[in-house]
Amino acid sequence: MTRVLTGLQPSGLLHIGNYFGAVEPMVRLQGESEMFMFIPDYHAITVPQKPAELRRNILFATAVYLAAGIDPKKTVLFQQSAVSQHTELGWILNCIAKMGELGRMTQFKDKSTGKGENVSVGLFDYPVLMAADILLYDTQAVPVGADQKQHVELARDLAIRFNKTFGDTFVVPEPLIRKEGARLMGLDSTEKKMSKSAASPKNYISLMDDAAAVEKKIKAAVTDSGTEVKAGPNRPALTNLLTIFSLVSGKTVAELEKNHEGKEYGAFKTDLAEAVNAWSAPLQMKIRELLADEAALVAVLKAGAEKARVVAEKKMQAVRTKIGVALT
Ligand code: TYM
Repeated sequence: MTRVLTGLQPSGLLHIGNYFGAVEPMVRLQGESEMFMFIPDYHAITVPQKPAELRRNILFATAVYLAAGIDPKKTVLFQQSAVSQHTELGWILNCIAKMGELGRMTQFKDKSTGKGENVSVGLFDYPVLMAADILLYDTQAVPVGADQKQHVELARDLAIRFNKTFGDTFVVPEPLIRKEGARLMGLDSTEKKMSKSAASPKNYISLMDDAAAVEKKIKAAVTDSGTEVKAGPNRPALTNLLTIFSLVSGKTVAELEKNHEGKEYGAFKTDLAEAVNAWSAPLQMKIRELLADEAALVAVLKAGAEKARVVAEKKMQAVRTKIGVALT
């Protein structure tokens, strides 16, 4: 069975790009793979966080995973900070990672632009902790959106480097990137991806947006010149909207194009907003139900961490031996 692992940062906001980029693929793979899914809370603190909010966001992320269909019996579901082997391996990998390769990470460049020296060392170093997350579990496949591909490639490079220096220790992972929907674009721009940290909430559809907000955002979404509801290489805005429609409805883009032949953008947007809302309403209801029982969410994470720790500690014992710090 393939070993699969992913994580999504616990920010209060998860958008449909996060959901279709990483959560839904995990749900689909359950049952046919060995699954690990975690909440990278130590990644979240690479930018300032309010403690009470972070706590709430960890529970929210847990509720989202469960509402989406992640089953703790089939997936080891846990909190990164509860398994200290992640930061331990992160440190060791720091010592073989190069400043140059981290400096080339486009996400770091994006997030640090304009901030000069005033960014945390953690933000710079974050892909190394991500490599540790992946390598600790002998992960073979990492379902992520396209923006995380470079980070998974760094994990590959570090695994290969470590194996060459100290002998075979880590499985070299592969990113698992879906064909459609691996990079949903912002509704307000055809150039920027849908992002939690976008300047305007009109950029994204949050999983928790109510029907009126979804309708307003979709009505305001940019479109391509012309009037046809058609996807294509020179129609980035409609391609994005049709991709979203396809993801939430399960219909193909070709089917949706056919259904909207001769219809105007306005009518198409009304249908799209309806489809998004029909998809998100039951999900939101489940998330709210799960959030009402905090103790149950904490218990799920605790049980998951216990299982994860066993796997992670076994790998760390091998790593400590390989690098020469294990004395017995
Ligand atoms: P994060 O929290 O930024 O994003 C979570 C997941 O959502 C995907 N994603 C998108 N997919 C499609 N369209 C978009 N517009 C879009 N925006 C984001 C991301 O690619 C990601 O899969 N570093 C990671 C979290 C992490 C992790 C890991 C992931 C930490 N350790 C180990 C995998 C394995 C992050 O910040 O993702």
